[in-house]
Amino acid sequence: MEISASVKIVEKEKFDPQKAERYIINAMIYAKIANERLPPGLTESTLISNLRDNVAICRQLMTDNNKFISTYLRPYFKNPECMDNEEMVQLLEFVRKLHHPYYSRSHERKKLDSFLAIEIYTALVKKAEKIQDIEFLIKCWFGIGNIYFFLTGALYSPDSVIAVKKALALIDEAGGYLNLKDKNTRLCAAACYNKLAISAYNSRESGYPEKFQAIDDALAFYNRSDVRSLDPDFPWQVWIDDVNGNIYYMSILYEFMREIDPITQDLAERVYNFNRAYFNQEEIVQLESDNDDICKNFILESINSPESEKWAQCIQYIIPAYHSGNIDLDRYVKMLQYCLDAHTAFQKTSPDFLSEYLRFNLIMVISAILARYTKKPEIGTHLFNYLKKLPREILDALPTCKDELRTIVENTIDASNSRNYLELLLKSTTHNHLPTYAHSMMISRLMLSFVSWFIDNNPEKLVGMCKTKNVAEVRAEQEAILAETRLAGLAHDIGKIAYIQVVSVISRSLTDKEYALIRRHPEEGEYYLEGKDFGCIPDVVRGHQKSCDGKEGYPPGFDNTRSAYKFMIDICSVADSIDAATDNIGRSYQICKTGDAIMDEIIAMSPNRYNQDIADALQNEELRETINSVLQVVRPECYYEAYRVFISD
Ligand SMILES: [Fe+2]
Ligand SMILES: [Fe+2]
Repeated sequence: MEISASVKIVEKEKFDPQKAERYIINAMIYAKIANERLPPGLTESTLISNLRDNVAICRQLMTDNNKFISTYLRPYFKNPECMDNEEMVQLLEFVRKLHHPYYSRSHERKKLDSFLAIEIYTALVKKAEKIQDIEFLIKCWFGIGNIYFFLTGALYSPDSVIAVKKALALIDEAGGYLNLKDKNTRLCAAACYNKLAISAYNSRESGYPEKFQAIDDALAFYNRSDVRSLDPDFPWQVWIDDVNGNIYYMSILYEFMREIDPITQDLAERVYNFNRAYFNQEEIVQLESDNDDICKNFILESINSPESEKWAQCIQYIIPAYHSGNIDLDRYVKMLQYCLDAHTAFQKTSPDFLSEYLRFNLIMVISAILARYTKKPEIGTHLFNYLKKLPREILDALPTCKDELRTIVENTIDASNSRNYLELLLKSTTHNHLPTYAHSMMISRLMLSFVSWFIDNNPEKLVGMCKTKNVAEVRAEQEAILAETRLAGLAHDIGKIAYIQVVSVISRSLTDKEYALIRRHPEEGEYYLEGKDFGCIPDVVRGHQKSCDGKEGYPPGFDNTRSAYKFMIDICSVADSIDAATDNIGRSYQICKTGDAIMDEIIAMSPNRYNQDIADALQNEELRETINSVLQVVRPECYYEAYRVFISD
C-alpha cells in the first residue's frame, strides 16, 4: 500500500488584482448599506422588506469577500515567502487602496478593514525582510503606522506610537543608503513624523515632555535642509503648518476634554499664539474687537466663504484664547455661540465632506466645553440642547471622546439618578448603531420574558434583586425588578462603544485581532458603570459572555460564579445566545436557527454552558411559546424601533 503524504499541500492561486479591486468595491457597498440612513416616510412594511433585501445583498458580499480572502490572501498569511515579486507589489497596491488615508478622503474607506490590512502588511514585512528590500519595508511600516494611528483614535493604543517609531527607525536606516532619493520614501518619512507627533500627543501613555519632544522631532525633520533640498517642490511649509495646527489644535481639545492632565497656561499660550498667526492683522482686529457685533459679523460672515474654514479657525482661536487668559468667560461663550450659528447655517448649504469634517471638529469642541462648563448650568443647558440633536454625530466622534462622554453625561444630567444617566448614555452611543440597538432591545425583551416567568413560577431564584430578601419581597418588588431587567438587557453590550465604528463596517468574517477586541467589551462596559448604584447591571455587563460554570468565555478576570447576580447573568447569557442564533435580519448575516432548535441546544448544554434552572424552564411549553413569539413578532418591531433613530423627522 502506498503511503501518501499526510500534509496536504494547498494549491495557491496567483494573486488577481481585478478580484482584489472587486473586494474593495464589495466592502464599500457593504459599508454604505450598513451606514445608510433610510429616507423618511417609509412604511413599516417597506422598512422590513428593505432590510431583508439588504441582508441578502450583504450576505452575498460577505460570501464573495470571504472567498477572496481564503483563496488569495490566507496562503500569504501562512507562508509569506510563497509570494513572488510581482505579487508583492500587487498586494501592497491592494492594501494601500484598502486602508490608506492619504489615498482616500472617504471616511468609510478609512474605517475599512483595518485589521485585515495589518495582517497583509505583516505578511509583506516578513517577505521584504527576507529579501532585504528596505524601501519596500519602509512602505509597509508606514502603512502599519497609519493604521495604528487611525485605530489609536478609537482605542488609545500605545501600539500606534510604537509602530510609527519603528517605521521612522527604518527610514533613518534606509535614508543612509537610499539618500531619500525616492519621492515615496520622503513622503513616508514626512507622514511618519506627522503621525508620530500626533500619535504621541494623543496617546494616554505619553506625558508632556514626550509630547513636546515628538512635535519638536517632527519640526526638526521638516526643517532639515538636506531633507528639503531632496524635493524642493514638496510643500514642506504646509506640512509644518499641518503638524503644528493639527497637533496643537487636536491635542488641546483632548486635554480640555479629559481633564486628567490639567492644561497648563503655557500650553494654552503656545497654541493661542500659533493659531493667532493664522489670521491676518485686519482679521485679528475684528476678532478681538470689544464690540460684540463686529466679532459676531466676522464669524457669521465666514459662512459665505466656507472654503476658508474661517469659523472653524475661530474655534481654534477661541479655546486657547480663553484658557490662556486672553478673553473672559463671557466673551468665550458668546463667540462659541456665533460659531455654532455659523455652523448650523453652513451645514444646511454644504452637506459634503468638508461639512462632515467641520461638524466633527465642532462636536469635539462642544463636548469639550460641555465637559468643562456644565457645572455652570446656563451654559451647559444651552449647549446640551444643541448636542442632544446630534446623537449620531456624537457616536461618530465617540471613539476619541470616551472619557469626555462620560463627563458630559455625568455633569449634564442629574447624576444622582443612575437610570437617567444610563438611558441617556445608551441613547447617544450603542443605540445609534442599528444592529446593536436592535440586538439590545431583543435581549431586553427576552430577559423580561424569562424574569416574568420566574417571578410567577420560581421567584426564589430572584431573591437578591433590588435588595429583596425573600420570595414575598420579590413579588412585592416585581415592577422594580422588571425595570432593572429591561435596562440590563439594553445595556449589556454597552462596552462596544469603544470600537463599534472600527469593526462594525466590514463585509467578511472577523480576524483574530478583531475577535480579541470584541472580547474586551464586557470590561470596556465596566468603565461606564462603576461608582453608581446599578443593581445587577454591572455584573450582567461583565459576566454575560461567560459560561454558567465560569470555565469558558470571557473576560478571565471576572468570576461570574461568585456574583450576587449570577442568575441574572445566566439569563442574559441565554438570551444573548437565543438572539444571536436566530437573528435573520441583524448583525450576523449567518444562516440562522429556529427558536426551538436553539432552545433545545441550550437544554442540552446545561449545566456547564447554560444554567440548569433556565434550561428546565425552557421545557415549559408556555415559556417556549413566549420566547418564540418574541423572536417572530417582537424582532421586526425592534428593528422598526431601531430604524426610527436613523430616520430624520
Ligand atoms: Fe456581549
Ligand atoms: Fe450581546
